[in-house]
Amino acid sequence: MRSFLGRDILSLKDFERNEFLRVFQVCDDLTPIARDRRNGDLLANKTLCTAFYQPSTRTRLATEAAMHRLGGHVLGFSDAKMTRAGDFYQESIKDTVHMLEYYGDVIAMRHFQQGAPEEAARWASVPIINCGDGWGEHPTQVLTDLYTTWKELGTLDGLKFLLVGDMRMRTMHSILYAFSQFDIEAFVVAPEEMSLLPEFKAEIDGLNVRYREVATAEEVVGEADVIYMEPVVQADYTKGRDERGEQVGLTPAAYKITREMMRDKAKPGAIILHSLPRMDELPADVDATRHARYWTEAFNGVVMRMALLALVLGAAE
Ligand code: CP
Repeated sequence: MRSFLGRDILSLKDFERNEFLRVFQVCDDLTPIARDRRNGDLLANKTLCTAFYQPSTRTRLATEAAMHRLGGHVLGFSDAKMTRAGDFYQESIKDTVHMLEYYGDVIAMRHFQQGAPEEAARWASVPIINCGDGWGEHPTQVLTDLYTTWKELGTLDGLKFLLVGDMRMRTMHSILYAFSQFDIEAFVVAPEEMSLLPEFKAEIDGLNVRYREVATAEEVVGEADVIYMEPVVQADYTKGRDERGEQVGLTPAAYKITREMMRDKAKPGAIILHSLPRMDELPADVDATRHARYWTEAFNGVVMRMALLALVLGAAE
């Protein structure tokens, strides 16, 4: 297995099966620290720099919380408008990263431009963690989703996933890449204008990913072990910030998962994951059902970032 020390976490396309399993093992090892709400000292001499050019609730704060749990230091920005990248100078990623690499030992970056973390990694002497790049990828979220599935269902092999929502979304790209490493079948449900792009389909076909495009969630929900959701009433991820207009659409029934649907059609043990935030595709009354696991993901999201930070900074092998 390749070493994680000093490695950039940019994409799940280049993640190998044993690397997923190693990350999950480190999560298990570090879970007691988070579960007991302790702050340890594993990364006491390390500093995380967060560079967020797009809004975030979960990813930035979970990554920062992870660093605190491991006793490290945290600095960074969550609004690029307050940096030189967001004012008159429009400072480049190269110039920005050449500064940040001296301020921290690892950089967690979210950006509205697809490929921005990859560009940063070309210039940085410290590891870059992709925390979501445009429509590109969202590896730390999907590692959290897969770790949650692995913990809840005991395996990833042999499972059927129902992916429902906007297939342009970065999570959907990362999860379909990840499926190439496991015995997983996927049903893909999206509006036509949000369906998988031909070039992406060609890529995952080349990786032997097994998926079938289906018109509605309802027709396959009964076969799914894991239902993985994104909104179709969606922000524009190529923007630094997308304000909500006065008119917000409603999600068509084909792309919704409801409490009634789960009661009448789903497998008894099926679980629902959602990277969040949500719109009306997942009504709040689903939260009280035995299927909901998206709050479990809030905890696992911290543990996952603890594992990744420990691995890339050499505190775990
Ligand atoms: N899941 C996710 O990326 O959430 P945030 O946008 O709040 O980070």
